[in-house]
Amino acid sequence: MPVDIIWHGHSTFEMRTDNYTVLIDPFFTGNPLASIAANLVLADYILVTHGHGDHIGDAVEIAARTGATIIANFEICNWIAAKSKVKVHPQHIGGGFNHPFGYVKMTIAHHGSALPDGSYGGNPGGYLITVGKIKIYFAGDTGLFLSMQLYGDEGIDAAFLPIGDNFTMGPDDALRAVHLLRPRVVVPIHFGTWPVINQSVDEWKKRVESETGSACNILKPGQKITI
Ligand code: NI
Ligand code: MN
Repeated sequence: MPVDIIWHGHSTFEMRTDNYTVLIDPFFTGNPLASIAANLVLADYILVTHGHGDHIGDAVEIAARTGATIIANFEICNWIAAKSKVKVHPQHIGGGFNHPFGYVKMTIAHHGSALPDGSYGGNPGGYLITVGKIKIYFAGDTGLFLSMQLYGDEGIDAAFLPIGDNFTMGPDDALRAVHLLRPRVVVPIHFGTWPVINQSVDEWKKRVESETGSACNILKPGQKITI
């Protein structure tokens, strides 16, 4: 069964499996690239990679409206539980859990995770998600790290990697990440939202496809990839 993944700009994704809609880092309000408003989005589960406002975004409001469960690290789940009644499922780096839509393992990210009000948001992460036979990697915000090679050993179908530079990997390190992860297809994210992370993404696609064995799929906000 294929998985449809819609990019809403920045690091915001809507993943649709046969029976579930899963949002990743639902940053709609204030996201210049978002192609839909937060109050129109549906969700059964919401994955949050770290506490920064451009990732936790509208998670709590969407969960309150839809009844979705938020999956995040323990510290972020505690912060949410203290201020709302939404359902949370805490995980942490290296830990996986069989959710109804698939197996979700939280991965390493080298970054920060402070919450919008300055509260401690634990360690940032990413997610390696297995739906049926399909494996999808959402890196979150991170610099390059060698353990990406271990994630690559699991056999990744699609990897969603930041290439914007400044706050995360830039194009050069993201290319090295593709070498380590060896995904069937890579999708660049976390670029172009603001001038400080503008990148020439067509150029990056050329480099990926000439220097690695991976295909590169550039999405426009609102556009879908089927894995
Ligand atoms: Ni961040
Ligand atoms: Mn970010």
